[in-house]
Amino acid sequence: MGITRLRGFQDIIGADARAVSIVEDTARAVAERYSIHEIRIPLLERVELYQRSSGETSDVVEKQMYAFGDHDEAHTMLALRPEGTPGVVRAYIEAGLDRSDPEQRFYYSGPMFRRERPQKGRFRQFHQFGVEIFGRPDAACDAELMIMVDDLRRELGLEVEFQINSLGDDKCRPAFRAALLEWGRAHVHELCEDCHHRLERNPLRLLDCKIDVKKVESAPRSTDFLCEECRQHFGIVQELLAGAGVPYVVNPKLVRGLDYYNRTTFEAISGAVGSQSAVVAGGRYDGLVETLGGSAVAGTGFAIGVERIALALEAERFRVKETPDVALIAMGEAALRAAMELALDLRHAKIRVELLSPERGLKALLRRADKIGAHYALILGANELAKGVAQLRDLKSSTQQEIPLAEVVSAVAKPA
Ligand code: HAM
Repeated sequence: MGITRLRGFQDIIGADARAVSIVEDTARAVAERYSIHEIRIPLLERVELYQRSSGETSDVVEKQMYAFGDHDEAHTMLALRPEGTPGVVRAYIEAGLDRSDPEQRFYYSGPMFRRERPQKGRFRQFHQFGVEIFGRPDAACDAELMIMVDDLRRELGLEVEFQINSLGDDKCRPAFRAALLEWGRAHVHELCEDCHHRLERNPLRLLDCKIDVKKVESAPRSTDFLCEECRQHFGIVQELLAGAGVPYVVNPKLVRGLDYYNRTTFEAISGAVGSQSAVVAGGRYDGLVETLGGSAVAGTGFAIGVERIALALEAERFRVKETPDVALIAMGEAALRAAMELALDLRHAKIRVELLSPERGLKALLRRADKIGAHYALILGANELAKGVAQLRDLKSSTQQEIPLAEVVSAVAKPA
């Protein structure tokens, strides 16, 4: 038996790979227009980082982390990153930016790992393009992040629905949590087994239950508990979204699965991916920098599920074949050396060249040139070399001409 890939892990090939790159490249270009700059952080971090930020009771930390002990003396517990936010916050604090220059705007792009049950749009290794903004406690920043996501989805030609909510802050959320706990205890016999577990450990998560969807309709809503400041903040977010022409719905059940959120949370939902419909998700996390040992600096951000967006875009759109301009055929060793020089000249002139194997006959190589869809076959043998020329065969029109080596680049570069 051959060695196969792991369950939930993907090889992304051809048009699918191109779709993923297009999502990443477009997100990068849009982020740069919002004056957001790249940060690169490790794939491996200490487990505590996620326990203290994403939350010990979150599914991500409790059930889904790829965690293992290092071979050092301390058996340091490590984890493959399940999300980017904690690592970016750690890096921000470690670089001393929370003190020296707290207002920072970062984006990151790369693989994340979660040991989830694989299905369409849900993988164990997937890619996120994330944005994290520090030092901006204002509602305008939350709104701008959603406007940015809207810009991106428009550029990609994707329809989404924005769902938003406010979870309140340290002042008003305790009352909401207490109300949920009370509601949960009163309804405990109707709730699923997971919810029994959630109830005492993290009652907010009751609203997130995928089984008790109908039952939690009657549960308390965070928006009914907001203090004056949080209500105002949420009001401004909505006004600015409406002003920018970004439609949204308020979903009071949107508590998100990670522990660090306060005030604004949001998701962009696509109808084109099946049940894994959240293609972008994020929110505000004003206490997180402090929780991880930094100063009291506000934070807000989001992450795009790159594969989910690529799936929603239908890879078919990207099935354009990448064909070379020139298939270079060298017959004999001396010709091969000259051909390699010629290939370099052509490539420096931005011409796509595939040097064919020198170990096959001319006929087979011409068939190969045809198969890979090359526009020209450029043939260089001992005779041509002696005369300082090459045969340029136009495979589209089946015409052939002999041209001096010095003129090959300009002959091929001519628009066909
Ligand atoms: P999240 O909701 O866990 O949030 O993930 C963000 C997005 O990543 C999801 O909406 C989804 O599109 C994608 N995603 C998550 N898990 C998978 C999976 N197993 N397979 C494929 N795609 C997946 C976060 O990760 C937060 N760090 C977002 C954030 C940034 N909040 C503030 N800043």
